[in-house]
Amino acid sequence: MVASNGINFASICSLFSFWHKIFYIKNAHNTPLNGASQLKALVLAGGFGTRLRPLSCTRPKLLFPIGNKPTLDWTIEKLAKSGTQEVILAVNYMADAFVQHYKRSKQKPKIIFSRDTPSQLPLGTGGPIKNAERLIGHKEPFLVLNGDVLTNIDYAKLIENHRKKDAIATIALYRVKDPSRYGVAQLAKDNRIIRFVEKPTRDKAPSNLINAGIYVLEPEIFDYIPAGRRVSIEREVFPRLVEEEKLYGYNFKGLWIDIGEPEDYLKANKLWLDHEIKKSQIGKDVHIKDGVEIKPPSTIDNETTIGEKSEIGPHVTIGKHVTIGKEVRIENSIVFHGAVISDSTSIRGAIIGEAAMIGSKVKIESKCLIGDHAIIHESVTLVQGVTVCPSKEVTESVLTPKCLM
Ligand code: GTP
Repeated sequence: MVASNGINFASICSLFSFWHKIFYIKNAHNTPLNGASQLKALVLAGGFGTRLRPLSCTRPKLLFPIGNKPTLDWTIEKLAKSGTQEVILAVNYMADAFVQHYKRSKQKPKIIFSRDTPSQLPLGTGGPIKNAERLIGHKEPFLVLNGDVLTNIDYAKLIENHRKKDAIATIALYRVKDPSRYGVAQLAKDNRIIRFVEKPTRDKAPSNLINAGIYVLEPEIFDYIPAGRRVSIEREVFPRLVEEEKLYGYNFKGLWIDIGEPEDYLKANKLWLDHEIKKSQIGKDVHIKDGVEIKPPSTIDNETTIGEKSEIGPHVTIGKHVTIGKEVRIENSIVFHGAVISDSTSIRGAIIGEAAMIGSKVKIESKCLIGDHAIIHESVTLVQGVTVCPSKEVTESVLTPKCLM
């Protein structure tokens, strides 16, 4: 048959070899995401989360719930959908909480841990990358994510864009109104970053495109990060790459928010419920009494009880084993598991810590943060911006924003 078409075995081989070479050259810097590629993602998870104290004193912020899943679970789910085969969690502060949470995970991607150092000294945003060099390897570009970011970025597109450029690093960039809290990039026409400024004042910001804390890095990056010490990738590595013309940006639209501060955390919960959950989700064995209204989007986790005529939502996340009394009103808030909220209490725009006990007829206003196991007595009002430390008992109203130790 071959002979009858005038093509012999040798010519088929040479044709195959020709196409193989073309494919190989094209893909030397362009491996498809699914298939042969071994995409790895390093998630920076070891920060202290100081801005979210006191809630972060008892759990790492990446395990704070959003719509009844730890924030990091959402990220890992998105990474899995993008074809990531291995997630390396760079842990430090409360490392064991991550190990406990993920040790039984049999799902893809595989999750492994990279601890900063035995002495628990934080390595910043660059040090953990160098520390994980052996786990990441030198074969392929890899993803690095700040674990406190919630986003629906298309990681595959980000990587595809990276591979098209002669880049050592590509930073995902997101447009915001006020860039002054972030690293800000100025782009050339070909999306090369020509300036990168950390936290500029509003009038000095070169653009509105901020570092979204999501990068694709080539293995050469390891040569730019000194070993064994704290390194800020934003302040020490990116400026060098700008000089060498090896830093590119990828401007994406969609959902992006970090959960650095309590207000951001509440905002992230709201956005995520609006865009990803959309309706109300009720877990298993939830007891909802007569006349209860649950306004979407909201999530109520397993084994929670809600008393008569209570109104929950919109934008409420309620954890497991929470007990809510009669005629309670909760909106735009997060209630951690095991909390008790008694009759006729109202909570708006606040975060209620694990097993906190809130008495009846209590009023908790926006931006209040109630620590784990705190006790708020009957008829107390907490005005906007009051923080209550864990296990603290509050017997009287607090009418100016302050932290109760
Ligand atoms: P604050 O103390 O409130 O600033 O929070 P943070 O240090 O946890 O967060 P930051 O925004 O500074 O860090 C961005 C990401 O890097 C977060 O996901 C942190 O968990 C992570 N990160 C920060 N410092 C370290 C570190 O020293 N080691 C590791 N492994 N991760 C870190």
